Amino acid sequence: MPAASRYPEAYAAWTRDPETFWAEAARAIDWVRPARTVFDPGAGVYGRWFVGGEVNACHNAVDRHVAGGRGDQAAILYESPVTGSRRRITYAALRDEVAALAAVLQDLGVGRGDRVVLYMPMVPEAITGMLACARIGAVHSVVFGGFAAKELAARIEDAAPKVVLAASCGIEPGRTIAYKPLLDEACRLSAHRPDACLILQRPQAPASLVEGRDRDWAEAVATARAAGRAAPCVPVSATDPLYVLYTSGTTGKPKGVVRDTGGYLVALAWSMPNLYGVAPGETYWCASDVGWVVGHSYIVYGPLLHGCTTVLYEGKPVGTPDAGAFWRVIAETGAVTLFTAPTALRAVRKEDPEARLMRGHDLSAFRSLFLAGERADPDTVAWAEAVLGVPVIDHWWQTETGWPIAANPVGLGALPVKHGSPTVPMPGWDVQVLDEAGKPLGPDRMGTLAVRLPLPPGALPTLWRQDARFRESYLATYPGYYNTSDAGFLDRDGYVYVMGRTDDIINVAGHRLSTGGMEEVLASHPGVAECAVIGIRDALKGEAPCGFVVLKAGVERGPGEIERELVALVRERIGPVAAFKLALTVGRLPKTRSGKILRGTMKKIADREPWTVPPTIDDAAVLEEIEASLRERGLA
Ligand code: COA
Ligand code: AMP
Repeated sequence: MPAASRYPEAYAAWTRDPETFWAEAARAIDWVRPARTVFDPGAGVYGRWFVGGEVNACHNAVDRHVAGGRGDQAAILYESPVTGSRRRITYAALRDEVAALAAVLQDLGVGRGDRVVLYMPMVPEAITGMLACARIGAVHSVVFGGFAAKELAARIEDAAPKVVLAASCGIEPGRTIAYKPLLDEACRLSAHRPDACLILQRPQAPASLVEGRDRDWAEAVATARAAGRAAPCVPVSATDPLYVLYTSGTTGKPKGVVRDTGGYLVALAWSMPNLYGVAPGETYWCASDVGWVVGHSYIVYGPLLHGCTTVLYEGKPVGTPDAGAFWRVIAETGAVTLFTAPTALRAVRKEDPEARLMRGHDLSAFRSLFLAGERADPDTVAWAEAVLGVPVIDHWWQTETGWPIAANPVGLGALPVKHGSPTVPMPGWDVQVLDEAGKPLGPDRMGTLAVRLPLPPGALPTLWRQDARFRESYLATYPGYYNTSDAGFLDRDGYVYVMGRTDDIINVAGHRLSTGGMEEVLASHPGVAECAVIGIRDALKGEAPCGFVVLKAGVERGPGEIERELVALVRERIGPVAAFKLALTVGRLPKTRSGKILRGTMKKIADREPWTVPPTIDDAAVLEEIEASLRERGLA
């Protein structure tokens, strides 16, 4: 460990006295009223942070920077290769736009604690929409644009928003996706109907508006601005939710992860200088999507809280127009860091293994590359280090945690990198490896990664209106711990290794998906008797879903036809982001004598890993049939 790193000192300070540690970190935030108690162990499910404090997230992310002299600095640099446009939005312009939109929301009846769902592509209005909610104490819930109407409906039903903010379309390379019909369908499917929808008309596919419900976003904001309307920031309790973000659970019903306001602001504000090593005024680029937690924390709130310029990128790592896009944007925006998913780098490397497209771009200001969302395979990390010549930092986190559990804190001084490890737990996170009985395991022993309670500021206090589901999903298996549902180990130096999920979640191109949810869709097809979905290894996307189906007796249509229908059905019900392209008809599914499907063994076969016949299997020949059908498709 180089003497230069202040990490051991910071982690020890937190261990010694967590409340003092977080009270000091809380100084980076403007409070309307300071917290009465830094941590109240008796509040909420496992305690609450900054109880009694009052704060406003939008004030901290926007207004205070204008007041502090950053009004002319770019808050957002919007880079949109898919539309061929770019915009520079200053902090002062952002404040005015957000305050006007917040007034429009108030006119639509939205107040403190009300929910607003956003269904938006990567356009600046997605950020103004989130901040406008935060400004008036409303709770935003952003739904990723790659999700289908049914998924959007499930979120609308659960969050029960007064208003939906949506764009008329999203743009994927080579095609425009009309969002409005998906929104209309979602409103039809949901038992809850929003009072109003504010629609951002994009010239690529303007939408027709539903009389009485839909309003034109630009018109409404322009009218508010012409009338001099500007909503002030409304103080909220530190423990009030800033947002609800739905993520895949083990069933088709997504989990509404609640993010409290005060703790989140404190944790993000701590992470910007100490973990990411960026200073106010610098440009920070996170190439994720506002629909994911990474986008919430490090496209929107983190960089803006810290007075940075955030890059909002509406494009892909490859194909918009080529694998040099990342390098061009870094050079043109002056970004000092990039945060992306390993899958994006694999895509770039595949197209441009020598990184020839990097030539001619001035990357001299660029200091570090951060990776998250899935395991960073050592090969990809080594490639990125070689072509970029800067530290490549893997870090581990989840929608639930809001910010990284483990990382290499470059701001405190980087620790030596070990490929395959996201380095060490951050202050706030007491990471343990537990065996099945919940007993902590020693170094190098594989088990479930769990975090000793309480979770730090910024992590979820509960699930939206579902304390019982929160307890059952995360706290019940190992009393006193939060179960990450990731498997892994700690080495002798305390480095964390995250090897994969212990549940049915898979990670497809950095997108978190539930195989259980896909199984529900396959099972709803009238020709399907039984099914199992597993994630199989994919060189580009990390994992790709593969569905095995047993058809009902007497089904007359050929398996090929039904397989095509199943692929279309998952796309229609879950969305293109599920990337479900492979359905295989088999005669039987391998099961234990008690009827449990042997998904783990099926995965090993598909991944070409050594596998053995489990002693509990009902009929071992089924596994050979599975292997044969995979081989037929060139997959095993
Ligand atoms: N709206 C609508 N559709 C979307 C979408 C969105 N916001 N995002 C993705 N999709 C669609 C894609 O167009 C694609 O459709 P297709 O089946 O018709 O081709 C499908 O969903 C699957 O998308 P994806 O898995 O992203 O694959 P891809 O082939 O388009 O791109 C990568 C592959 C690796 C370039 C891309 O996945 C990527 O950049 N991943 C990084 C993800 C990331 O940053 N995650 C955040 C965690 S940090
Ligand atoms: P999400 O909630 O979408 O952020 O996905 C969280 C899951 O992604 C985690 O539980 C892990 O399984 C996986 N993940 C995220 N970051 C990493 C990482 N750095 N290394 C290994 N797995 C990761």
